Amino acid sequence: MSELSTKHLLGIKYLNKKDIDLIFETADHFKEVINRPIKKVPTLRDITIANIFFENSTRTKLSFELAEKRLSADVINFSASQSSVKKGETLIDTVNNILSMKVDMVVMRHPNPGAGIFLSKHVNAAIINAGDGAHEHPTQALLDSYSIREKLGRVKGKNVVIVGDILHSRVALSNIFALKLQGANVKVCGPKSLLPKHIESLGVEVELDLVKALEWCDVANMLRVQNERMEVSYFPTAREYSQQYGLTKAILDGLSKEIVIMHPGPINRGVEITSDVADSKQSIILEQVENGVAIRMAVIYLLASKIK
Ligand code: CP
Repeated sequence: MSELSTKHLLGIKYLNKKDIDLIFETADHFKEVINRPIKKVPTLRDITIANIFFENSTRTKLSFELAEKRLSADVINFSASQSSVKKGETLIDTVNNILSMKVDMVVMRHPNPGAGIFLSKHVNAAIINAGDGAHEHPTQALLDSYSIREKLGRVKGKNVVIVGDILHSRVALSNIFALKLQGANVKVCGPKSLLPKHIESLGVEVELDLVKALEWCDVANMLRVQNERMEVSYFPTAREYSQQYGLTKAILDGLSKEIVIMHPGPINRGVEITSDVADSKQSIILEQVENGVAIRMAVIYLLASKIK
């Protein structure tokens, strides 16, 4: 039987193409399951999973919890803002206390890049990175590629542009790793101040002109400007940003072909994307969210099979 090459999901950087294929094949099965009248399988009745979130989340947190419950795992949820972290408890102490309650797997979102990698070296549980600072967000990239595969038949050979705040985006880095592994062509587009130096070393091209980038691509993944990770201003005003890099219906309708629009959420409507684009028939934003449950079921199932 096929299995993942890793016992944690810390980043796409640590996966290979076979891992991604296996996750997608497994997600295909779970997608069929969650569209049945009875959406639950008894597969992980003996597994306990802790979702520990040190940063806010809507989609990722709910999607993981639903995926775990659909697999019949026991689930506990921890939110740092309502916990003893506020009294000074460390990450390792927090997690070791949770693990002493016989937890098998930890899904963690943390503001510090590498927090999941650090944890995986210090605790005896499978770790899933649900976003670590501006580093990686592997399940988001997996569900993004899975959604492209579903919409366009394959990822290989497709032209994908990631637009916006690449510098502060864990979604961008994980997407670049995932798309390149699958043979897609990737460009990044945004103001120079929001593009990391040497980004080309990851095998992507830079295009500063939004319309040229959109004319080139099959898929545009529009990213939110991550104001919460900025200590200084990277562009004059939100209005100026949206004038240069905001995707409007007029721009979309002016392109010579129909492209697919993606966004990981949360959307800042009217900044990186207007409402009529976000809600247009070319947008697959809600399909991405739907696919997130099947992808996370697949990841949890495959990692759980390596625990015993
Ligand atoms: N896409 C994403 O990570 O959204 P949340 O921050 O709401 O989880």
